[in-house]
Amino acid sequence: MKSRKSCLFSLLLALLVTATAMGQTGRADYRVVPLPEINGIKSADFQLTGQTLINYPTGNRDMERNAIMLSEYVEQLTGMHLSVRPTLNAKDRNGHISLLLDPTVGGDEAYRLNVTARGVEIIGKTAAGVFQGIQTLRKSLPVGALSRIGLPAAQVAASPRFPYRGMHLDCVRHFFTVETVKRFIDIMALHGMNRLHWHLTDDQGWRVEIKKYPRLTEVGAWRKGTVLGHNSPVNDGVPYGGYYTQEEIKDIVRYAAERYITIIPEIDMPGHMLGALTAYPELGCTGGPYEVWCQWGVTDDILCVGKDETLQFVKDVLDEVMQLFPSEYIHIGGDESPRVRWEQCPLCQQRIKDEGIRAKGKQSAEALLQGWFTTQVQHYLADHGRHIIGWDELLGCDVDTTATIMSWTGAEPGAKGARLGHDVIMTPNTPMYFDHYQTRSTWNEPMAFGGCATLKMVYDFEPVAADLPADARHHIIGAQANVWTEYITCEPQIQYQILPRMAALAELQWLQPELKDFTDFKARLSHLVSIYQHYGWTYRAKSLTAEDE
Ligand code: ACM
Ligand code: ZN
Repeated sequence: MKSRKSCLFSLLLALLVTATAMGQTGRADYRVVPLPEINGIKSADFQLTGQTLINYPTGNRDMERNAIMLSEYVEQLTGMHLSVRPTLNAKDRNGHISLLLDPTVGGDEAYRLNVTARGVEIIGKTAAGVFQGIQTLRKSLPVGALSRIGLPAAQVAASPRFPYRGMHLDCVRHFFTVETVKRFIDIMALHGMNRLHWHLTDDQGWRVEIKKYPRLTEVGAWRKGTVLGHNSPVNDGVPYGGYYTQEEIKDIVRYAAERYITIIPEIDMPGHMLGALTAYPELGCTGGPYEVWCQWGVTDDILCVGKDETLQFVKDVLDEVMQLFPSEYIHIGGDESPRVRWEQCPLCQQRIKDEGIRAKGKQSAEALLQGWFTTQVQHYLADHGRHIIGWDELLGCDVDTTATIMSWTGAEPGAKGARLGHDVIMTPNTPMYFDHYQTRSTWNEPMAFGGCATLKMVYDFEPVAADLPADARHHIIGAQANVWTEYITCEPQIQYQILPRMAALAELQWLQPELKDFTDFKARLSHLVSIYQHYGWTYRAKSLTAEDE
């Protein structure tokens, strides 16, 4: 016989179950950032509930991982847990979400989202495209504890304008943990980006373990202290440093690849090398001694390219870098390399003679020596199936057009590079340096490099100059924002500098310029910001109001 107590318990349980089932409901809105094309929207909704399954093509590991990620995203944002399963046949798709591959979808990262009252299909030509469709569905969801979400019937589709949609992160000036780098990658994935340019070596530290040269991280990864502010006379005197082991790097590269993000390592050379020179002073023109730099800027001490050992060192380092990073591109820097040491160095001068290098017009012999050195590295990497990216200073050194140019001193060098036949990534310091202020009134802002790049300035940036000839336009392969970290010391500050500016960047990376509309973007941004809030990310709330524009 059932006791009264257990009857009461059953009743309470039933009420609880009913309340949970009735729970909060919400409706998806596909007008996300970046904006997809939305057609045929109808009032009939697909009902997403905890009973909805996510189907993926049987035996496809990438699509299985996509399905699991979609399930995780839905759970993170709404608390609903959706199970995933391999699709057995088309009938099983009825009433559920299905991830599908279809070669007729145009573009490797393009996607289509077909929603009817009977089911949801996320379709791509590749698993990478399906992943982009997943991000759009994710961003369209209402945020909060929900038990039912209506997905309006519609066809949603997008194809990115640029194949290279980058963010850069400097982990030298300040060092960031594996978890922080992974969260940076998560933020990139949410914004539909696909290239992380990872700045790993510089004057203030060497941050990548190289087995053949252990002193690079034993010695070169550590500095005695850090200058306060913009090179003030005050140094905090606190030893500072860190590096990523090869195992950690492999883990991060894998984590990024699972989100269809390629990591492009930057090993900056021949300048910005004090970390390495401190560890191996024989690689410099003067032989040192050197010290890992405790301040910011550009030092005269760079690699001595008159020595064969230097070239061997660079090749050995790149051998290990290539093992760690499958990326087609390796960034070899090339910026801010003063040539005063080379002018005085007998070995560098001998190299100039031996190679028959002669000054040409405005190009000094030393500038062309940098070109010669870069070409050696370029050929070495090409022999291993890799291509170089270098900063726009390379345009002054006569490197050939297989070098991709990253235009940072402005947009003009990029346009010039494209005219010459180089592929170009646009990252002009205004407005693509996200270490710059995001407002003209810098009072009450975290200290930044200087400059100003408001949300609107980022949104309005057009990577392809209007007067670029038709046959050069395709050379602009993408745009990227850079996060230099001289004045960025912690993860919340990174997030503050990039959010919400990354949203503006994402829209210019994805949308054709004629479809951009800043007012409409800002209206859509508020929901994206609610996702930032949900994940606990720091962002600049004032950028949501008009006061800085
Ligand atoms: C750079 O900002 N020096 C590339
Ligand atoms: Zn030298």
